[in-house]
Amino acid sequence: MTGALPGASMPMDSRAWRSINYRPTVQSYPPTRLVPLLEDRGPCRVLEIGCGGGEVCVRLALAGHRVFGLDINRASIRAAQHHAAAANAASRARFIIGDALQLLPFARFDVIVLVRVLTCFPAPAEWQRLLDGVRRSLAPRGIVYIHDFAFDASNDAYRQRYAEASSRGWRTGNFVVPAPDGLPLFIAHHHTPDDLSELSIPYETVLLKHHEGESMRGHVCTMFEFIGQLAAPCGDGGDQ
Ligand SMILES: C[S@@+](CC[C@H](N)C(=O)[O-])C[C@H]1O[C@@H](n2cnc3c(N)ncnc32)[C@H](O)[C@@H]1O
Repeated sequence: MTGALPGASMPMDSRAWRSINYRPTVQSYPPTRLVPLLEDRGPCRVLEIGCGGGEVCVRLALAGHRVFGLDINRASIRAAQHHAAAANAASRARFIIGDALQLLPFARFDVIVLVRVLTCFPAPAEWQRLLDGVRRSLAPRGIVYIHDFAFDASNDAYRQRYAEASSRGWRTGNFVVPAPDGLPLFIAHHHTPDDLSELSIPYETVLLKHHEGESMRGHVCTMFEFIGQLAAPCGDGGDQ
């Protein structure tokens, strides 16, 4: 019976995002906790993965950083380029269309930002590959900033959907997101405490905070912000 549930045959592939027209209830979650933390470092080389319409990239560019936004969705990258031009930030914000899973690792960045992006990677192998690519693209003492959705088994908007996914043997925290016509649009992931422990392993935790947020469709949900700093390589005279 579980095979007949909507979305049962959907591939858990982030590449579905090439053609998704993302119009979330909350247009942007600005990196307000990250910006002051970077002030002491001076201008940084920043990569934002899954930059969407570029709001966060522009905010960081206007704070003096040199920003590269990467997204698999061509329409989002066009919107990001227009946004940067309109904000007079185009000289500090560049955008690339591409699949992070294919392109990473890049030559080292000081800061890598992922806002509402890990949720698009429901398959554990892809989620891990992306995080591994992020770690390998960071300079020593580089900063990762992740702002995403947390698993909350008590949330009425998700309890049933988590249960349906779990009855198919999917990873805990995965669920189907339907299009307005009710047909499955994509599979999303909400992060469990185990996921948070796993993603933080390579880093010294600078900040981990949960807060109430809104999903794409405006459901109240729990979100987390994680800021981690990569250790300096042994022997460079830094903290060990
Ligand atoms: C939920 S949206 C969030 C967009 C933006 N960060 C925000 O908070 O508004 C996820 C973004 O990640 C992008 N994305 C998904 N899979 C990707 C991949 N494999 N490589 C690059 N970008 C990807 C999507 O196209 C989309 O713009």
